[in-house]
Amino acid sequence: MASAAADLAEMSLLDPKVQDDPFAMYAAMQEAPGIYQMPETGFFVVSRYTDLRAVLTDPVTFSNEVDRAALQGAELSEAHQHYLAEHGWPHVNTLQRTDAPAHSRYRKLVDRVFTVARVREMAPRIDALAEQLIDRFADRGSCDYVSEFAMQLPGMILAEEMGLEASDVATFKRWADAMLAPASRRMSAEELRVVADVELEAQHHLAAMFAACRRQPRPGIISGLVHAHGPGEEPLSEAELQSVMSQLIGGGFESTMTALGHAMLRIAREPHYLAALHDDAAGIRGFVEEVIRMHSPTQGLRRRATRDVELAGTLIPKDAVVIVRYGAANRDAAKFPCPHQFDAERKNAGTHLAFGAGPHFCVGAVLARQEIASGTLAMVRRFSRIALARPLEKPIHRANFLTLPLRELPLQLTRRTA
Ligand code: HEM
Repeated sequence: MASAAADLAEMSLLDPKVQDDPFAMYAAMQEAPGIYQMPETGFFVVSRYTDLRAVLTDPVTFSNEVDRAALQGAELSEAHQHYLAEHGWPHVNTLQRTDAPAHSRYRKLVDRVFTVARVREMAPRIDALAEQLIDRFADRGSCDYVSEFAMQLPGMILAEEMGLEASDVATFKRWADAMLAPASRRMSAEELRVVADVELEAQHHLAAMFAACRRQPRPGIISGLVHAHGPGEEPLSEAELQSVMSQLIGGGFESTMTALGHAMLRIAREPHYLAALHDDAAGIRGFVEEVIRMHSPTQGLRRRATRDVELAGTLIPKDAVVIVRYGAANRDAAKFPCPHQFDAERKNAGTHLAFGAGPHFCVGAVLARQEIASGTLAMVRRFSRIALARPLEKPIHRANFLTLPLRELPLQLTRRTA
């Protein structure tokens, strides 16, 4: 115990080296008594599996309404909102940024669109796009899997849902980056204006799509959201539709890219998985679940304590920021024996918390699983050998406080002969 506390005093979740490989720090947090409080920020970090489940399933005490202006400061944040409102739509809080009862309304509407049946309909298109991407580098016998595949596949799928051509994934990425930027790093007034202009371009494109789908319903997420309300229910307003779309884009892009990348890195490092998945594609389910457990693309998110509350013997005061650390809980030895060992047949891998738990459980979990399985199996079917072209340079992740995407994944590939 004393040594875990001493180890923790030497480490920081804000240190880029720790962010690139946070697992020793997580283990120290789990061994030390109580809930770890970051000395740099005062945030409480929930790292044990049972504590995290308790927090995620108690949205009354641990609220999703957190102060999002904090990063840019009140003045810049207000100016940003004003500019968006003047030229398009201001950010309104929906879905992940709300608590019940508002959240329940948004969630009910979005759940009507994101169904298992809808993902089943999308599956052949996901398979086809994966094949197209592989065609681009199969003859070359090499690729950077992150930029040429893992980033492209989820980008293409979301781009098509937004009424862009799949080939226009660059436009989509520019929009997605601009939407996410103000929440991920501090920016100057000029930088904020630049990203606002890009976001406004996306907003006006989406607004035209909403209008077209209102006139003429069509298959797809946008039309589904526009028409999601039942008789007597309030439709989503224009600003609410914009907000929901930006969360689908923000939630569905980098996270899926991260999981696809880690799945392929595992195959490159442990080639027996290539043979096993080729011989028995049904094994992909357990493989994907274990990748998601071990690498938790969303390492953490924020909550706010709505009252003084005791958790694992620590008093968390009202209004404190609580970091729900999915990446730590998914490596908790008390829940997952030998947690740092990859085991595609792990019996309880599916109980991981990488998609959250409780009312905010990931809307896109079924779609994400399908994309990771389709993408990985397409590679396994096409190549008899998938190997690292060279050792990965450190840091291997483009990590930040909350996410863990790979920076690159240079592969050497040998095609299967028919
Ligand atoms: C491997 C890929 C993914 C991971 C690891 C992931 C992870 C998560 C996590 C941890 C949450 C928060 C749960 C909570 O608050 O406790 C979440 C929520 C959410 N995710 Fe995902 N996600 C992934 C893919 C997707 C995709 C493909 C989409 C949509 C296209 C999506 C859309 C959302 C949305 C809209 C929410 C908010 C739900 C709510 O607050 O009710 N995610 N996701």
